[in-house]
Amino acid sequence: MDFKASIAQAIAQAAGLSADEILPYIEIPPNTDLGDFAYPCFRLAKVLRKAPPAIAAEISEKLQKPDFISKVEIVGAYLNFFLDKGVYAKEVLTEVLAAGEQYGKSNIGDGKTIVIDYSSPNIAKPFHVGHLRSTVIGNAIYKIYEALGYHCIGVNHLGDWGTQFGKLIVAYKNWGSKEAVEQDGIQELMRIYVKFHDEAEKNPALEDEARLWFVKMQEGEEEALSLWKWFYDISIKEFERVYNMLGVTFDAYTGESFYNDKMAPVVEELKQKGLLQESEGAMIVDLEEEKMPPCLIIRKDGGTLYATRDITAALYRKKTYDFDKCIYLTALDQNLHFAQWFTVIKKMGYDWYQDLVHVPFGLVSLDSGKLSTRHGHVVLMEDLLHQSIQEARRILDEKSPELENKEEVAAQMGIGAVIFNDLYNSRIKDVVFSWERMLNFDGETGPYVQFTRAKAFSILKKAGEIRTDVDYSLLQDPATAEVCKLLADYPAKIVEAAQKYEPSIVTRHLMNLAQAFSKFYHDNPILSSEDAVKEARLTVVAATEKVLKSGLTLLGIETPNQM
Ligand code: ARG
Repeated sequence: MDFKASIAQAIAQAAGLSADEILPYIEIPPNTDLGDFAYPCFRLAKVLRKAPPAIAAEISEKLQKPDFISKVEIVGAYLNFFLDKGVYAKEVLTEVLAAGEQYGKSNIGDGKTIVIDYSSPNIAKPFHVGHLRSTVIGNAIYKIYEALGYHCIGVNHLGDWGTQFGKLIVAYKNWGSKEAVEQDGIQELMRIYVKFHDEAEKNPALEDEARLWFVKMQEGEEEALSLWKWFYDISIKEFERVYNMLGVTFDAYTGESFYNDKMAPVVEELKQKGLLQESEGAMIVDLEEEKMPPCLIIRKDGGTLYATRDITAALYRKKTYDFDKCIYLTALDQNLHFAQWFTVIKKMGYDWYQDLVHVPFGLVSLDSGKLSTRHGHVVLMEDLLHQSIQEARRILDEKSPELENKEEVAAQMGIGAVIFNDLYNSRIKDVVFSWERMLNFDGETGPYVQFTRAKAFSILKKAGEIRTDVDYSLLQDPATAEVCKLLADYPAKIVEAAQKYEPSIVTRHLMNLAQAFSKFYHDNPILSSEDAVKEARLTVVAATEKVLKSGLTLLGIETPNQM
């Protein structure tokens, strides 16, 4: 039922106006003491030529109060409407329970395609916690858009091409061995990569050598390519372990190397369109007009760049997927890179440059400053997840020693805590890890929401069948009303999260719902109440359980039934 529209209708009738003139100005008061809806009468002063408070009084006198309104109060120039809590609860709860798993989902995205470029780590480097954010934010955005009916294509644009692989080949030839790489995988590749940087500081000729190897890779020279492929396979195997732990999948693993044979025609097109200029031996697109440094397309030595591959990839994706939006999840420090090459696409005359969106986020830290790979101070994603699981396990041993599948629940809880922590604040803020804060059952954490949902689940299990033809007028207390309000708002939060590319809107909402449910549960005995009351309260539990589960699933967080 559209409460707002019906209230507008009633006011319009009392004031002798049309509902269209009233509806846009009906407000939701900042707190429920002022009612559930409010109408400020200021706007009518001109038309009706009276003081606003007098208008409010007059309207309230003539008003035919709709059934679902329990009272109307005048506060100054405001008419405040209070919903009948039972009618409201019935409206919300029956809708949630009838929709079930589908509640909050919609088809507003039907027929539209969104490409989501996320995670995209650089191969031959460990999967460090800096890539966590891109991975979990991208995964949540994927699921949120999917829930709205969009066709989503998740792309892992692996950093698997570029001069760094030339460096790695030189490093391998000088300081590596087959056995060591086979044994230690990415760790060993990183060791020799760091070694390369230390040595190149003393001996710059190594850099030239590395560039030559990369040129060989581009030309398809056999030895260069087979070494590269070997590093690639080792990396992917390690990344997949992490993706499995996080429950993240992709529709395409088209990394930068995929575009090696697709760049030449794009460079040619840039030339044809008169956009390419020579500058100190390199080829660039000048962006002075846009007040940005030039976008480098071809290096002096003939090597292509990160931007060359991004431009090529965008053209490829447009052609292949005909996307309505293509979004890129990376840290904030790549802002300029995206602004530059988006502009190149615009200059090429493609108006869909407007559908390219960079979605930046803040840094991750473990109290020890920025995490980088070049000098080896890294925190590996896998270690971080294992540590979180271990901590979760310790907490479960203490709090629920009887729990049956403790291993499994510890994994769901430990990983859920990491994801939730990452998605809790607006993405542009930096994320700090603190086990104590992340795993706390009573704090604003993933485990708290998981635990609340598991509690609801266990009540339902004990209760048996849940009926929906109950006496909703028994649900009059404010805690229940608050839960209902949050349940009712859930679908709009999903839409808002999608529009703003901001999963934290869903995360925050779930936290509010979990807290409101705890208050409801604290204030209202359920299983011990007499039948009619019990049955009515169980509908609140059932609807909350559904929405908490649905919301956590959208965020990529698992929902253990027992904790
Ligand atoms: N590999 C890059 C990095 O680790 C991220 C790639 C993001 N995607 C893109 N199409 N540029 O920083």
